[in-house]
Amino acid sequence: MRFTLGRLLPPALTVLAVSGAVADDAQSRAENALDVLQEWYDNSTGLWDTAGWWNGANCMTAVADLAAVDSSVRDTASYVFQTTYSKAPASNPHPGPETKTTSKRRHLLGRASPAVNASAWLDSAYDDDGWWALAWIAAYDVTHEQSYLDLAEGIFAALQAAWGTQCGGGIQWNPTSTYVNAITNELFLSVAAHLANRVPSRKAFYVDWAQKEWEWFQAQGFIGENGTINDGLLDNCQNNGDTVWSYNQGVVLGGLVELNKAAPNDTYLPSAERIAKAAIETLADSDKVIHDSCEPSNCEPNATQFKGIFIRNLQMLYSVAPDDLYKQVIISCADHIWTKDRNNQGQLGVVWSGPLNGPIDATTQSSALDALIAAITI
Ligand SMILES: *[C@@H]1O[C@H](CO)[C@@H](O)[C@H](O)[C@H]1NC(C)=O
Ligand SMILES: *[C@@H]1O[C@H](CO)[C@@H](O)[C@H](O)[C@H]1NC(C)=O
Ligand SMILES: *[C@@H]1O[C@H](CO)[C@@H](O)[C@H](O)[C@H]1NC(C)=O
Ligand SMILES: *[C@@H]1O[C@H](CO)[C@@H](O)[C@H](O)[C@H]1NC(C)=O
Ligand SMILES: *[C@@H]1O[C@H](CO)[C@@H](O)[C@H](O)[C@H]1NC(C)=O
Repeated sequence: MRFTLGRLLPPALTVLAVSGAVADDAQSRAENALDVLQEWYDNSTGLWDTAGWWNGANCMTAVADLAAVDSSVRDTASYVFQTTYSKAPASNPHPGPETKTTSKRRHLLGRASPAVNASAWLDSAYDDDGWWALAWIAAYDVTHEQSYLDLAEGIFAALQAAWGTQCGGGIQWNPTSTYVNAITNELFLSVAAHLANRVPSRKAFYVDWAQKEWEWFQAQGFIGENGTINDGLLDNCQNNGDTVWSYNQGVVLGGLVELNKAAPNDTYLPSAERIAKAAIETLADSDKVIHDSCEPSNCEPNATQFKGIFIRNLQMLYSVAPDDLYKQVIISCADHIWTKDRNNQGQLGVVWSGPLNGPIDATTQSSALDALIAAITI
């Protein structure tokens, strides 16, 4: 098993690895960044120290995404999935069913296996649930472990039961908030579309929900005049004009890619391309490195991970609709992270263009790792 470079290599080589003197191809960079990420992994909690609950899901997704393209890290990834699967629910900040209608919802679970307990992964923040569903789908893609897919289905059932009426559809941020935000609904779209491609017996069900969400999302005006997606809706269900966060320009891309695969429609990828290009225009600097407006020092605790989510999903779009602009962005982000945003311990920061500034923790590491992984497949 491969846990850290330190365990694998003699001390002298470890130092070289950190200074970048070992092989400096995209795959070696990502492997190195994974080793450093795993220094924050606590195998007694199944989560990453310094990263919160939902951020843990995104750390795990990065681990899975690297394992999907690099077989040398599969053992590490499998160890993480198994450990997180058994340990992490104990650290869930608010476990349990999210609405009072649990018994009525049971039929919605359909074939989802009774052996998995999705409630243990729900934390009364619907967006957090969506991240974990995507993380378990990513783990399923690497391992084909059925219980991971069952868990994602169980989580989706809880989200689907939360489909609301407040703005004629969609889901709220959480059961007690009236805020209807973009990320929660993008995650709903993406989870449904991913499941449509992985659960043949319920494909039509998941396609329907993904389409329903996308129709509603477009009609609701989350997408602003210049094609970027704002944070959410006002009480009157109009676009609130709030921050154009990078992750909100990302999750929708992966959702549309998966939906187009499950139920092709010649509007899905063009819609994704418009959002991706508007996002790059708004968020990239002149070197095509992506930034969030909170940099360098106001991104904690949650926005430190946003940019990696954008790049992860931009890569998904690139894989089905290659565009030189996406390639330039992905390569430039990865190169800048590696050469300008890395300390002498191999830790990666939040300002990808450098210089190192602001927080460094498991969330900045996993976010940067997302970009290094995307660069492998370009
Ligand atoms: C957790 O990690 C420690 C230190 O690497 C190791 O000794 C221990 O065996 C691990 N525990 C489990 C359950 O894998
Ligand atoms: C499922 O998880 C929830 C939340 O942690 C817990 O209350 C419930 O007892 C669990 N159910 C089973 C069957 O383990
Ligand atoms: C394709 O998607 C668009 C936008 O969501 C929708 O209006 C249209 O009805 C869809 N076309 C088909 C043939 O399903
Ligand atoms: C697009 O609109 C958003 C506000 O919704 C704004 O923050 C952003 O700067 C605009 N992008 C460009 C390229 O003007
Ligand atoms: C960060 O996310 C957690 C949910 O995982 C939430 O409880 C917390 O309020 C968020 N913090 C901010 C500043 O948004």
